[in-house]
Amino acid sequence: MKTVLITGAGIGIGRATAHAFARAGWHVVVTDVLEDEGAAVAEAIAGAGGSAQFHALDVTDTAAAEAVVAAVEAAHGPLGAVVCNAGIAHRVPLDQLTDAKWDHTFEVDLKGMIRVIRPAVPGMRRAGGGAIVCLSSIMGTNYGWDQHVHYSAAKSGVVGLVRGLAVELARDGIRVNGVAPGYVRTAQALSREHSLGPEGLEAAAAFIPMGRVGEPEDIADVILFLCSDGARYLTGQTITVDGGLVVGRY
Ligand SMILES: NC(=O)c1ccc[n+]([C@@H]2O[C@H](COP(=O)([O-])OP(=O)(O)OC[C@H]3O[C@@H](n4cnc5c(N)ncnc54)[C@H](O)[C@@H]3O)[C@@H](O)[C@H]2O)c1
Repeated sequence: MKTVLITGAGIGIGRATAHAFARAGWHVVVTDVLEDEGAAVAEAIAGAGGSAQFHALDVTDTAAAEAVVAAVEAAHGPLGAVVCNAGIAHRVPLDQLTDAKWDHTFEVDLKGMIRVIRPAVPGMRRAGGGAIVCLSSIMGTNYGWDQHVHYSAAKSGVVGLVRGLAVELARDGIRVNGVAPGYVRTAQALSREHSLGPEGLEAAAAFIPMGRVGEPEDIADVILFLCSDGARYLTGQTITVDGGLVVGRY
């Protein structure tokens, strides 16, 4: 049984991804700062006949990331896949965008990925391969987002991280890809303070060629595909999953 580690898997896209991998027969390592939610996801997977465990993990903590990867490898062997999903999107106008606020978003949304990938790679190399998926955003690949310059910059950075790692790790059989979701119905997008809110999300559906916002499962299934043998020749790409939004706005 292959093992996947997913960050930020207690709610939203991460939770849906945990369930998708479990249904596909993977052992799922659910990690999150949200301990109750993360533990509940692992329990739900086990309750449905799948295999999962929960580890508390704040992706801003390098030692904790290394310890979680080491503990998982000791019990289950090298990771077959890592999904770097944890992210925050705080609304901060430029005049309030202190170094600390900028850094916090980068610590979670960009550097938080490398903290988990770095300790997972040696095991993947020994095993002869693996797959890594990092969550970007259409706000990093296509759009600027008002009062979210730090978020857009970090999510653009994910595209570069994916390209660089893909080249560096290709000879080890490790594929690295990104997913750039459009508008997806999760706590992040439903936040009136930091994002569109429920009304804004429904209004956005009018601009989406497919006529609806995305559901977490719409993203999870693409992440699972990117970690499957069907994607064996696919690396270094960040795939937009947005119901046609960015190709349909003109
Ligand atoms: N929802 C959208 O419309 C959308 C669009 C584009 C990109 N994304 C990206 O997809 C990913 C998942 O987003 P979501 O919509 O499910 O958001 P969400 O807010 O529902 O979930 C984010 C998860 O990340 C976790 N997290 C936050 N800080 C963390 C930290 N320091 N360490 C570990 N975990 C942490 C949260 O606890 C939560 O479980 C994020 O990277 C987000 O930026 C979301």
